[in-house]
Amino acid sequence: MHYEGIINHLNSVSPENGWFTEHYGGIAPANGQPSEQHDGLKKPWQIHNTRKLDGIRSEIERMGLSPIEEAVALTSLIMGLDRVDSTIGHFASYLREWSKRSYKMLQLEVPRLFISREENEVLQRDIFDVSDMEVDLAYYDPPYGSNNEKMPPSRVRYTAYYHVWTSICMNDKPELFGKAKRRVDSSDKVSASIFEEFRKNPSTGRYMAVEALERLITSTRAKWIILSYSSGGRTTAAEIDSMIRNCGQVVEFVKVNYKRNVMANMRWTNEWLNGADSPNCEYLFLIHKG
Ligand SMILES: C[S@@+](CC[C@H](N)C(=O)[O-])C[C@H]1O[C@@H](n2cnc3c(N)ncnc32)[C@H](O)[C@@H]1O
Repeated sequence: MHYEGIINHLNSVSPENGWFTEHYGGIAPANGQPSEQHDGLKKPWQIHNTRKLDGIRSEIERMGLSPIEEAVALTSLIMGLDRVDSTIGHFASYLREWSKRSYKMLQLEVPRLFISREENEVLQRDIFDVSDMEVDLAYYDPPYGSNNEKMPPSRVRYTAYYHVWTSICMNDKPELFGKAKRRVDSSDKVSASIFEEFRKNPSTGRYMAVEALERLITSTRAKWIILSYSSGGRTTAAEIDSMIRNCGQVVEFVKVNYKRNVMANMRWTNEWLNGADSPNCEYLFLIHKG
């Protein structure tokens, strides 16, 4: 298979010290105790894997791959690194003690690929720049974060959680800050999303995130919209409930409990609000805009 050659080649690349090792590589002491790094910070990977990462990332750059080949190589690298990390799934902070898997050696595998027979177009823009495109169905999975008004939006931001993957894809060696060594462009002032803003608008008294969602649904030129909502706070759920009712007709409603792995179809009544603050639940609303 075509990609096997690329992935095998990348697996054989020699480890080297580089930017990722300097900032994200840590050393495990032989006695298995929590380790103190050269800069006193906890790290998401052990140094044997960041050295592999440095070698492989430079090689991907050197190989002159086509955009699709490069995407496959980077996907494989990210998935491989995810299997040997020492985090709880995000990069806002790192574990005090090394995870078991972090001792393993990074090994790339060919990702599960499929060929789409349809014409697809991928756009990476602010949603408000594209929400007026005419489509049959729009699926929105916006971030919600917390309902805690005192919590700054940065605490729940995607850019703050996944900054390392961005740096691996872009390979731009950005300026970093803080204990987790985040990219400066993931800092509070630069990249907050309005959907992660849980303060109220002083002039309307409504949550700004809910107002943004309302603006989004209203501006969307789609016959159908599927909106997902992750459980957070009851007040916010109530606001979301009435906001959706104002914007269109909800024809179906599904509650997914990830922890128990159950899915329930519910009548569209505001009964869903009773359980809306239970953790690990996702709600899907099918809205008909006509
Ligand atoms: C809950 S995640 C979606 C996850 C996605 N469904 C998946 O399976 O990978 C929310 C996403 O919305 C993006 N986002 C937040 N504000 C946005 C905006 N104004 N325009 C476009 N995307 C935005 C975030 O960067 C984040 O990737």
